[in-house]
Amino acid sequence: MTTFNFKRAPAPPGPTRPTSPARVGRPRKGGQQLKVGNLLREQPHWDLLDDVMFLDKPSGRDKLCTEVGIEIEPSSRLFQTNQKLAELHQMVKGVLQQGVAREERGRLYIEVQTAPPEDLHPYRDVPESEHELVNLMAQDRYEYLEQLRQKNLVKRWRFFMTCTSRATAKFSKEARPTPEELVATVRKADAAAASLLGYLRGAGYEARRMSSNEMFKLAYRYLNPGRASGRLPNWVPPEKRVKVVPTQPKGKAARPRERLFTLKEQLFQTPVNNEDMSHLRIGPTGQQKHVGTVSLARVPQRTVTGMLARVLEKLDASTYYVVLEFDHNDPMETDKKLEVSKNRLFSQMGSGTKEAPNVKAQAKLRDLNQTIKHLTSTGDHTYRVGMTLVLIADSAEELRQAKESAVSACAIVPGSGLVKHDFQSLFQWFSLIPFNGQRGQFMFEATETTASDFFPPVAPWKGGDRPTWVVRTRQNSLANVDFFTGPTNANHFAVFAPTGYGKTFTVMSLLSAHIRAHNPFVTVVDRKEDFKFFIRSLSDDQKKNSAVVPFYPGAATQLNPMDLPEGDTKPDAVKQAFLLALVRYFVPPSSNSREAGEEKALILEALSQTYRRVKREGRSPLLSEFAATLNAMEMYSDGGPIAGEQQALARSIALRLRPVLGEDSPWGPILDRPTNVNTHAQFMYYDLSGIADSDMEMRRVALHIVNDRIWQAAKRLPRSVRKIAFIDEFGSQIQTEEDKAFVSTTLRLARSSNLAFGLATQTLEDMNRISGMEEAIYWYLLGRLEGGEQVIRDVLKLPDSVSREISLLKEGRGFKEWALIYRSKDGPKNGDIIKVEESRRSYWYLTSEPGEAARRDEYLKRYGNLKDAVQAILNEEAA
Ligand SMILES: Nc1ncnc2c1ncn2[C@@H]1O[C@H](COP(=O)(O)OP(=O)(O)O)[C@@H](O)[C@H]1O
Ligand SMILES: [Mg+2]
Repeated sequence: MTTFNFKRAPAPPGPTRPTSPARVGRPRKGGQQLKVGNLLREQPHWDLLDDVMFLDKPSGRDKLCTEVGIEIEPSSRLFQTNQKLAELHQMVKGVLQQGVAREERGRLYIEVQTAPPEDLHPYRDVPESEHELVNLMAQDRYEYLEQLRQKNLVKRWRFFMTCTSRATAKFSKEARPTPEELVATVRKADAAAASLLGYLRGAGYEARRMSSNEMFKLAYRYLNPGRASGRLPNWVPPEKRVKVVPTQPKGKAARPRERLFTLKEQLFQTPVNNEDMSHLRIGPTGQQKHVGTVSLARVPQRTVTGMLARVLEKLDASTYYVVLEFDHNDPMETDKKLEVSKNRLFSQMGSGTKEAPNVKAQAKLRDLNQTIKHLTSTGDHTYRVGMTLVLIADSAEELRQAKESAVSACAIVPGSGLVKHDFQSLFQWFSLIPFNGQRGQFMFEATETTASDFFPPVAPWKGGDRPTWVVRTRQNSLANVDFFTGPTNANHFAVFAPTGYGKTFTVMSLLSAHIRAHNPFVTVVDRKEDFKFFIRSLSDDQKKNSAVVPFYPGAATQLNPMDLPEGDTKPDAVKQAFLLALVRYFVPPSSNSREAGEEKALILEALSQTYRRVKREGRSPLLSEFAATLNAMEMYSDGGPIAGEQQALARSIALRLRPVLGEDSPWGPILDRPTNVNTHAQFMYYDLSGIADSDMEMRRVALHIVNDRIWQAAKRLPRSVRKIAFIDEFGSQIQTEEDKAFVSTTLRLARSSNLAFGLATQTLEDMNRISGMEEAIYWYLLGRLEGGEQVIRDVLKLPDSVSREISLLKEGRGFKEWALIYRSKDGPKNGDIIKVEESRRSYWYLTSEPGEAARRDEYLKRYGNLKDAVQAILNEEAA
């Protein structure tokens, strides 16, 4: 343990030194400017020691006291069910009753600040990719977000709980503590922090004790709002504080003076101006922040758990603190007080005449009796509770609007009333400085039940750990998505939204971010040529690392579905399942289940014999060779004879395959041929646009074959190489049990070969078709959808509130809202409402709106490269 220097700091020299002490909170008419020097005098902050703030006689206390801090993270908004809230409520009561000791004061700060520049650096600092387009987009995205940040539109939400603890002995700056007293005081504060931490964790909050430096920074941000989102100074501990020798006037004997930067001098760096009658101005002239406070005036008539979340959702302010105070009354004292009030009211009641008793006193007594009954029956303690919003704005007008918005947001809390502090803001702002051991002036008595209702239940979600794809949540905080969590663990994703909502756009944005971060192999299957441009643009002409495969009858493509991965001579279980399902497209199983079973056995037998036959030739067999085997099969592989009845069945299957494989059939010229296209490129694009929308059968066959290619690539490439496969309009491909079995095996096995599957479809009901597979899908993106309540509830096992949320998603110029959900198998579900948005430049890289795509093609021809083409379009747009 380090000890700190208790030497008293002299007042800072120079112009900041006050000529006459100003009284905080009681400005003269017209207010009075308070400068750094004045502030120092008024504050109890003494110093930090081992993560404990020591306070010198904070107002209302005769003793030194300490305060500790804990940073907490509430869970995300999207999944707050009423039941969960009720549970939370019980646990929060424990936090207040046990976590904040009697006669101590707990405080909760919700800090909503413009994110500091560092918050965006992880997105900027991802190493360059070898693919030009994704670099351009990533850089563009960083600049776009940085611009938003500078306009205060990228936020960081943080939650802190602080709690006071009395010192063990009476000491102060004048009567210094002994080292033993110091140790004992720190121990006591530690115990208070540990208890609070335990109760907060018990209530389901992620919670962490704050270090001295973190405590310093919270106070610093609060006190210096103009610098809060820039680079913050670190706390300088006593042993590192510099000695400053002020320059002496010439002639006088040099008398070097030791000058220590006290904690207070480190904290109070910004002048405060209280001249205005309506609010505070904090900061040097020209860069002032306008600060106002509003508080709840009375205990609300009714409260509900989690109401704060609803208030904050309505609050339209850019930067603010919500400060909740919970001053734990001693229950004995409360009892005594209540008894006294009761007696007083009794006697007041008698003061009316016999005919007209004192009605007011009667009503009060009724209320009082109710409160006493509630306290005795629930064991609730009572608290003095305060809730204040500290609003920070760049201009007086912005502050006025924020205040208005606060008033209307707080109207949700019935009967509470709101005090706008106006010029008194200084006073309230002061009394709420973090870690000052004080109590605010605007508090009301409340029971534990009511007090707990004020606790914040939710926070915006931060998404995954890795800064791969970054988006803003509805609350303008940042959230991350990455489909690869562990070193070899791919997570599948599913995108649901009606046509035109932006599935393709969103997935391209996701893909570009993942290509930058992971350089994966990517396969895209598309029905509308929407991805074609994007995939083509990923590759440059020399590398030829992208391939476009037109895959529909009539195209010159040949793709043998019987191909095996290099080196294999017989199909593995997955390949077998694939081929079986493929044959079943053309030869549906018999309705007689015994016969269907025999057919299956015969198909598998013929497959294995066909592969065995061509093994020596070192090539893949063709489907017509498989049909020939079926036709001629007489023996099983183990040497047993095939009975006549089954031989006939096998020949019948072969017969039914004939028309599908013929020269004039749609598929024969493509499938019953050796493969003639590159299916090994890093960026594969299968274009199914030549298949009519109505031709479901044909599309299913095509998708089925592409799936097999994806799977082969996954097997061919080492596990360390990441892979992504994205299939648009996926729902329609799953029709039969075989389809389902194949896809479900693929999804299951894909994860372990580091292949993330992405599926997009139009309605949530399509989820029913792949039910059982939802276990394998971790990320969900839901656009504005009507219906699907049953899927949300039964398949995704999410609360009904999510259905309502997704039907109310908003869209605006250049953005669409989506519900982003992370739903891992065992871990907690998490998610939030996010905005999918791109800069105007990236928009032009991605749009597939036909008119815009045509314009881009035209400019591309004219300028020869995408970057210049898009720049020319942007220039024209700007003109
Ligand atoms: N988040 C977005 N921001 C801006 N424009 C978008 C966004 N999402 C979609 N768009 C526009 O809408 C068009 C249609 O979207 P698209 O992704 O093709 O929809 P879907 O695939 O769901 O049918 C896009 O080409 C693009 O111009
Ligand atoms: Mg689309």
